[in-house]
Amino acid sequence: MEQIGIFFGTDSGTTRLIAKKIAKLLGETAAKPVNVNRCTADDLLKYDALILGTPSYGIDELPGLNTRIAEPSWHEFMPQLAGRSLAGKRIALFGLGDQEKYPDRFAHSLIHLYRWAVDGGAEVVGQWPLAGYQFEHSPAVVDGRFVGLVIDQRSQSRLTDQRLQDWVAQVGPVLREKLHTEIA
Ligand SMILES: Cc1cc2nc3c(=O)[nH]c(=O)nc-3n(C[C@H](O)[C@H](O)[C@H](O)COP(=O)(O)O)c2cc1C
Repeated sequence: MEQIGIFFGTDSGTTRLIAKKIAKLLGETAAKPVNVNRCTADDLLKYDALILGTPSYGIDELPGLNTRIAEPSWHEFMPQLAGRSLAGKRIALFGLGDQEKYPDRFAHSLIHLYRWAVDGGAEVVGQWPLAGYQFEHSPAVVDGRFVGLVIDQRSQSRLTDQRLQDWVAQVGPVLREKLHTEIA
């Protein structure tokens, strides 16, 4: 059965936890979430419908050894994908951040996944409203919305489950449509 691929990077495990919650909400159409430091570009590119998640570390960069996290992550994985076309793919993004501690660059790493997806020719779905968050600046805001779901387990964990439910209700059908398109 065709499935929605879910890939994430993480340092302390929170993004993995959120990826698992998303997979559970999607049910059998979701593949088991995979850490990007344990897969190849082909493992990811075999899916036409994808959900990609990243925490935010460093300044204006994707997390990886460059941002002094413990293991390789998106920063090391991305070069494998360089030059590979994403045409025909539908991608939803989610990002983790801490708006109290980093209000000036909240969930910034997400914008790099977004730019990569758009530049590769993918259709990005799952943009998310700013209502309910309190921060000064986030590079992950484009046209007045986050480019994907933003989860803050540090200062707004009580809102997480509802946000996940609402977002999965939004992106689930749109991503599943992509699976049916291929069959038709
Ligand atoms: C050293 C360090 C730097 C961080 N930098 C940012 C940041 O720039 N922007 C932000 O929104 N969150 C930042 N965070 C918060 C993390 O992105 C957040 O805690 C996230 O949930 C961690 O996810 P993980 O457990 O999957 O690694 C930072 C956290 C740490 C420890």
